[in-house]
This record gives sequence, structure tokens and C-alpha cells, in this order.
Amino acid sequence: MRIKPFYFQLCKFIFFIVFSLSYAQSNRPDDFLKPEFHQDRREVLRQSMPVNSVAVFFANPVRNRANDVDYIYHQDPNFYYLTGYKEPHSVLLIFSEPQLIAGEKVNELIYVQKRNQRLEQWNGKRLGVEGVLKELGLAAVYNGEDFINIPIDFSTFDKVMFEPFRNDVRDTKAEKANLFTLIEQFKSKIDLNTFSASASFDQQPTLKTNIDKNGLKPLMASLREIKSKEELVLLKKAVEISCLGQIEVMKAMHQGMSEMEIQGIHEYVFRKYGAEYEGYPSIVGAGNNGCVLHYIDNDLLNIGKDLVLMDLGAEYHGYTADVTRTIPANGKFSKEQKEIYDLVYEAQEAGINAAMIGNNSKIIDSVARAVINKGLIDLGIIKEEKEGRTYFPHGTSHHIGLDVHDLNNRGSFKENMIITVEPGIYIPEGSACDSKYWGIAVRIEDDVLITKDGPVNYSALAPRKSEEIEKLMKEESIFSTYQLPELD
Ligand code: GLY
Ligand code: MN
Ligand code: MN
Repeated sequence: MRIKPFYFQLCKFIFFIVFSLSYAQSNRPDDFLKPEFHQDRREVLRQSMPVNSVAVFFANPVRNRANDVDYIYHQDPNFYYLTGYKEPHSVLLIFSEPQLIAGEKVNELIYVQKRNQRLEQWNGKRLGVEGVLKELGLAAVYNGEDFINIPIDFSTFDKVMFEPFRNDVRDTKAEKANLFTLIEQFKSKIDLNTFSASASFDQQPTLKTNIDKNGLKPLMASLREIKSKEELVLLKKAVEISCLGQIEVMKAMHQGMSEMEIQGIHEYVFRKYGAEYEGYPSIVGAGNNGCVLHYIDNDLLNIGKDLVLMDLGAEYHGYTADVTRTIPANGKFSKEQKEIYDLVYEAQEAGINAAMIGNNSKIIDSVARAVINKGLIDLGIIKEEKEGRTYFPHGTSHHIGLDVHDLNNRGSFKENMIITVEPGIYIPEGSACDSKYWGIAVRIEDDVLITKDGPVNYSALAPRKSEEIEKLMKEESIFSTYQLPELD
């Protein structure tokens, strides 16, 4: 059959449009957690809730940066974990038993941001009720404006569980139902507005509702501290991206670099591999600056011959790494730098080896600290073990996940927990020890999975041994030779 030219052109045009649209839709990352993951997490939470209870979660507030510019929005980790919803101004309710709402039995409800053509033109697409139904798989979805009429009598529950409200929630007015109004409406529904801050405790009216502000945290911690295999895929990726940043900087490092330039290379690598954010503000401290544990000024122009402490974590689809490497700016550890570095390395090895099922953060800390204390005595930097904290003032281990310091119940390690092992020695200028050690700061931080077969170091990709670091630093990076124009 011969197709007439007009119809042929029309078919080609339609094909082109359909192909372009589907390409445009699929040309995005598609390795996010799936709706089934979030659904499963809600179900497991429900199983762990007390009989006749409701758990209420609010989205994170939108925080103002200055004037009419807000900080980049970041969802509350619990909210994200349970829903996958990344927008603000939302509230989620999970019921331990189904409730009859509009003739239907539902065991969860979510109120979300309403679609708004004008605001979406400025700030991007919102899922709205339809999108949340379709893309996140929650079944009972309403606009935030409907929350005021929620057909639930909170006084009938034995427990209304929620986390303490954030104290930085603004009534932005741009939305009729913003987080501020949602919280105020909730407070009045559970009678909390009758509380008076100025009255003494025994003068307070008795609440009709049994509220519980402490019960949710341990329940959520029990869920979040054990990572599912889907979460581990994302965490591993976040950690490996962070390692690639460290590797590239090791190769690119030279003495004329600035701290900010080093930060830029790490963060460029993060973006190159699709990590949307840093999980925490990047720390790049040369010499004495490394002694400030959370140094984020990163404004030294010339790193010279010092050690450079680099603590940076890529956040990939919500999950954050936390990796630190400390390297000599000129590619070679001096005698004193190496003494301190190798001591931290030895302490970290002991800590990693103790990352076993049944142990806990305290054990990791004590084995690593014992190595450091003894080493500092041997080097003549301290006289007694109890002085060790002066130079190693922080803990050695924490969980990572959706938060860099992730939620956990502070118990024994179980399979599929992921923790950091991060001993350090920091000797600021003017310390009470030989001045040859002044300005040396070393932290080595790795992200370690607890398994039945022992620790698995997700960040092993980035060299840790002093000799291996020196060897890698001899290699070239694309950043070794790149040139940008001079600017006056
Ligand atoms: N980067 C923060 C920490 O190591 O805990
Ligand atoms: Mn850490
Ligand atoms: Mn860190």
C-alpha cells in the first residue's frame, strides 16, 4: 500500500513527538527506592505500633536563606523513608488498625501539596493528589487544605504518636495549607493548643488525647538502623562516589591549591556521578584547620606542605556517605605526619576489625582509643592515657543512612547495619607537646557494613595506607592540567 506523503509526514511527526516525550521522561535516573519499599516500611512500622494508635509525621519545613530565597528543600528522613514524597507541606498518618473514612477502611492517610499552575511555573512540578496516587502508590491521598476536615477523632486512640514539632516553621502564606497551618490544625485537633506555656504543670488542663512524643523515635530507629538491600545499593553508590572524589583529588593535589578548589573537585565528581547533594557541609582543612572537627570555612588560599583533611560525603538519592581521607599536600608524608597518620591508621584497623555482630559503638571506640592512647604515649605527646581525649576528642563510630548521623537504638550491631569507623588525632598549634607535631590533624573515616562474615568496608576503594596514598598521588588527574582564564 502506498502511503500518501501527507499522512507519511504526519505519522513521522507523531512518532517523533511520542518518541521525544518518552525519551524525555525516561532520560532521568530511575534507580530511586520503589513505592513497594516505602509501602513495606509503613507496614512494618504499623506492625510495631501499639494497639489503637496513630503515628503522625510532618514533612520538613522550608527554610529561608535570605529575603525571597529559600534553602534547597530537603525532606525529613522519616517522611521520605515512609513515603518517597520529596515535597514540603505534607502530613502522613499511619493507623495501627484500619479506620472507616468516607465509607472506606483505610490504614493510612496522606495530605499533600496541591497542584498550582502559577507556582509550578516558578518552582517546578508538584505531584499533587493524582501524582502521589499514581507514582508513590499511597491509596488515601488528599490535598493539605482538606486536613482541617479530617474525619478522625484523635481522642478515641489510646496513643497519638508524633515527634516534637520543629521550631523553625514559618507561616509562609504562599500556600493556604502550609506546614505551619497543618501543625496548628493538628495541635487543635489533639487539644494541644489549650496548653499554656506560662501556667505550671498542675494547672494545665487535662488533654482529651493521649499524646506520646517519645514513642515514635525508637520505633523508627528500629526500622532505619537495619538497611534493606535496596538501601544498601544506594548507600554503596554514595560511598563509592565519595571515594572517587577522594581518588581524583589525591591525583590532582598540588601545593598551590586552595581548600575551596579541593572541595570543588570532590563536589564536581559527586555531581558527575549523579549524587544530588552533599550529605553534610564539606570539610576541607589544611594543617591547623583540620583540628577544627567540623571546619567548613574551607577558605585557605594556599595549602602549602600541610596535611589536608578531607571529610566529604556524597548524598545519592537520599542516602549519604561519610568518608575522610587525610593526605600530604606535596604528595609525601613528613616523618612527624607519618608517625601520626600511621597511628590513626592502626587505630582504625583495630576499629574496623571490631565491627562485628554483637559489638557496639562503644567497643569500636574503646579499641581504637586504646591504640591511639598508647601510640601518643610512645611518641611522648601525652604522659598518661587520660590525656588522650585532648587529641582525640570525638567518638569513633556512628550509623549512616538517610542522615549522616543516622537514627539507631544504640544497641549491639546487627547484620546490615552500616557504621563509620573514624578515629583521629588533632594537634593544634600551641599544644602542650613538642612543636614539631603542631598543626597536624589526621582523621581516617570509612563506611563499614556489618555482616555475618565480618566487616565489609564500602569505602575501601579510596586508599588509606600512607604508602598507597603516596603512590596514587604520583598519578595524573584530568584536574592536574586543566586551565581556566585568569581573573583580576
Ligand atoms: N562528617 C561528620 C562526621 O564525620 O561525623
Ligand atoms: Mn562520621
Ligand atoms: Mn565525616
